[in-house]
Amino acid sequence: KKRVFSGVQPTGKLHIGNYVGAISQWAENQDAYDNIFCVVDLHAITIPEAIEPKAFRAKCLEVAALYIACGIDPAKSTIFMQSHVPEHSELSWLLNCVTPLGWLYRMTQFKAKSGGSESVGTGLLDYPVLMAADILLYDTHFVPVGDDQKQHIEFTRDLAQRINTMFNAGLVIPEAQIRASGARVMGLDDPESKMSKSTGEQKKGHSIGILDEPNVIKKAIMSATTDCENEARFDHCGPGVKNLLTLYEVMSKQPREQIEAEFHGQGYGKLKKALVELTVEHLRPVRERYADLMNNQDHLHDVLKTGADRARAIAGTTVTRVRDGMGFVRP
Ligand code: TYM
Repeated sequence: KKRVFSGVQPTGKLHIGNYVGAISQWAENQDAYDNIFCVVDLHAITIPEAIEPKAFRAKCLEVAALYIACGIDPAKSTIFMQSHVPEHSELSWLLNCVTPLGWLYRMTQFKAKSGGSESVGTGLLDYPVLMAADILLYDTHFVPVGDDQKQHIEFTRDLAQRINTMFNAGLVIPEAQIRASGARVMGLDDPESKMSKSTGEQKKGHSIGILDEPNVIKKAIMSATTDCENEARFDHCGPGVKNLLTLYEVMSKQPREQIEAEFHGQGYGKLKKALVELTVEHLRPVRERYADLMNNQDHLHDVLKTGADRARAIAGTTVTRVRDGMGFVRP
């Protein structure tokens, strides 16, 4: 089986964009691949100002539990915490030393998050190298992610090629796996910008949280910005309506023509109400499973332990290969 690797940062409020763009895709395709899903806690500390240790610890466990609650089955997929597998940090260093600084300065995420300030942590600049290490450690073929991660995957491919050429490391060149629909869910309050975990934490009505209560989901969708008169056609409406139609499409799995026939020319009340119902029903079992998992955290810790053991066994062989390729003396 081909291998899949992906991860979510344990920060902010996990939302329907993370679910639709990434996690639901992982769950749906589980049987087709050998799957490794990681809670990327080492990435989360690249914005150290946002870290409050107690809340951070809880968030890491929340994300692990959410993976399972969203349908990732620990019997079929390896689930682990990035920091439990020290090979991520080790390969990161080896890769750092062959990464041209210019490649990092060019990354749009760094430009956006640093805002040009030189007082940001070095980890923020180095973020893509750690992400490349995550992916390359497991000889990953496919990386299922949202549209915003494209540049990071391109970077990973370039870096893998570079180290293969320089040191004959035999790293597998990964490919991004991006949904045709739902790869970029927009903010409900502002459909010009991507739905974001940090904004969702600060602003009501921006996002639909995966764990939001039905009444909160309802409020957010009913007050979502819509932007053209009664049009409910994917290619002939503003970004706000398109966003709602797309969420409906992904969760209902109905073809676009059928959705347009149902809602076009009807006023947006009908579309919004139908989307509320669909979303609430879709997320209800996730919320229930999540509550069960939180009531028995021993099980969660067991899953993470088993996952880390399996991940380490794979990651260790890759690091050895790279070390050998570079000429390190074996211990
Ligand atoms: P993160 O934590 O920001 O987001 C997790 C996943 O959700 C996707 N996503 C979205 N998809 C659709 N619409 C949106 N509005 C939306 N917002 C986020 C992201 O594309 C992602 O797939 N750098 C990664 C974490 C990471 C990683 C990795 C991913 C670290 N190492 C290795 C894959 C492989 C990130 O910050 O994701």
